Amino acid sequence: MTTAATLYPPLELPPFDFEPIWWPINAAQQAAINSKAELLLFGGQSGGGKTQFLAADAMQECKNPRLRALLIRTTLEEQQELEDIQQRMYEPKGARWKDNRWRFPSGATIRPGYLAHDKDLRRYQGNPYSWLGIDESGQHPEHRIRFMLGWLAAPLGAGLRVRARFASNPGDIGHGWQMKVFLRNRCPVHYPAPLEDDRPSETSVVPDRRYNSACWTDDSPVHKTTTFIPARLVDNPLYGREKLESLLSQSKAIQQQLLYGCWCNAAGLYFDFLRPDMVVPYATIGDSWWWQHFISIDYGYGNSTAAAGMYAISPNGVVFKTRERIERKMSAVDFAKGICKDGFGPVDFPYQGPQANWLMKLHPRDPDRPRTSFCVMDEAMDQHRGTGKSVFGVMSEVFSENGIGSIKAAHDPAGNAQVLYNGLANKLCVLTRDSADLPLTYRAISSRIVDERKAVKKIHGAWEDDSYDETSYAYNTWRQSSEKPARTELQEAIQQMRREGYDETTIARIAWQKERQIQEEEHRALKGINLAPRRELPRRR
Ligand SMILES: Nc1ncnc2c1ncn2[C@@H]1O[C@H](COP(=O)(O)OP(=O)(O)OP(=O)(O)O)[C@@H](O)[C@H]1O
Ligand SMILES: [Mg+2]
Repeated sequence: MTTAATLYPPLELPPFDFEPIWWPINAAQQAAINSKAELLLFGGQSGGGKTQFLAADAMQECKNPRLRALLIRTTLEEQQELEDIQQRMYEPKGARWKDNRWRFPSGATIRPGYLAHDKDLRRYQGNPYSWLGIDESGQHPEHRIRFMLGWLAAPLGAGLRVRARFASNPGDIGHGWQMKVFLRNRCPVHYPAPLEDDRPSETSVVPDRRYNSACWTDDSPVHKTTTFIPARLVDNPLYGREKLESLLSQSKAIQQQLLYGCWCNAAGLYFDFLRPDMVVPYATIGDSWWWQHFISIDYGYGNSTAAAGMYAISPNGVVFKTRERIERKMSAVDFAKGICKDGFGPVDFPYQGPQANWLMKLHPRDPDRPRTSFCVMDEAMDQHRGTGKSVFGVMSEVFSENGIGSIKAAHDPAGNAQVLYNGLANKLCVLTRDSADLPLTYRAISSRIVDERKAVKKIHGAWEDDSYDETSYAYNTWRQSSEKPARTELQEAIQQMRREGYDETTIARIAWQKERQIQEEEHRALKGINLAPRRELPRRR
């Protein structure tokens, strides 16, 4: 396990007979204070010294008259805590509290700020700051942070290090963007990067190393250097043996979080068991032209995005998500046509690898391209505005022109989330990837958090919401359909025949017959809901 002690320069002690106002308590805090990165996340467990670090870092340039620092907090308790810490640190430096900010003798100011809702953002518009600190940054959605960074600047030649410092525990609504921007979507404890950092698409980052390739969750570049420093309770000498011993009596997951700064199982995550290695390479699932395939769509425009997924069901009933597409500001017709024309891709996320085209044969010797049975869409898409056609109506027309029927998904957020949870946990619903990078769906689902009703919390304006919704409609609709049990039964029968020593030719013949029967039954059951014309299975040669 990577430990902070082996990575950071050892903690320097203050010179003899010098009594500093504040001094880093451990090597990690010291590394954070000295970091040259423009954006830094000091992240990890409660008691790691994060709040202390923010208050101290803000005053590093207090002798520069042009320093304008803004230290943001979210709750009133934090305000009290910060006020006390700041008073103890800043007053000995000659700072006085005036006009709602700390003013240093040089003219430098440190202003505490409050940010709990989007409406609070207005307060910070038009007032550039050269240092931005956000305590508990995981409590903020990505768009808020991006807005705040827009005002991070200093006058030319001011001699200030323009930077933003974030302090946060894992989890909460900011989990997704913090994982993406600072951690390459992987927990630094379970996917530690070797010092040479030669497997960037498979590991987290090297602590304290500066990176300049970070991207936001939509893959647009951050354009600033980033560094992650784990804040670990074990590094804090104020927490003695007793505290550590009491921690050892906690469950393993909690121990890993508290002691080592694990970012898995974070508080509040809905699908807390998901790990990157649960996403399987698409090439290994054996997708075949005769498997059932279907499409799922959650359409949005403007504030939300349009998300679509392609699903392939293996003969033993496992639902694989094989393709995905996310688009912003695309009309419903164009989105549906795009899916039909392009066979899903391209997605507008530059780091997604190419996806196999579903309009083509999977293998050159296949008799046909993959069978796509239907397209499932959010029920809400069938709401009519004015006299025009609903989004559902418009899109299903496009799909039916392409031989694909459309059905509506069940809208039960809490139930859908639970069903998807069970599916993913039991590997009955499996995400696939085409490249080394994780699919967008993984990023979306693994960062969803629980809301008050025990469903998945809605975060408006985040594409992850739409990607998650689309996946939950897909899996729930499939699970409720009558097709799965029949095929599962068939698969079991095949296994039984193998055990009993039947030869493969006989098994194949029985399987084809049974498959035909199932399809006929499906056809009968689905009559009435405009489904695709049934494709005949080819005759055995
Ligand atoms: N450099 C330091 N000098 C003295 N005390 C420190 C220092 N750093 C941290 N501490 C002490 O360690 C304890 C935890 O620090 P702090 O509150 O900053 O942690 P935190 O990571 O913000 O925790 P939480 O996640 O609960 O907010 C506090 O009692 C604080 O006073
Ligand atoms: Mg704190």
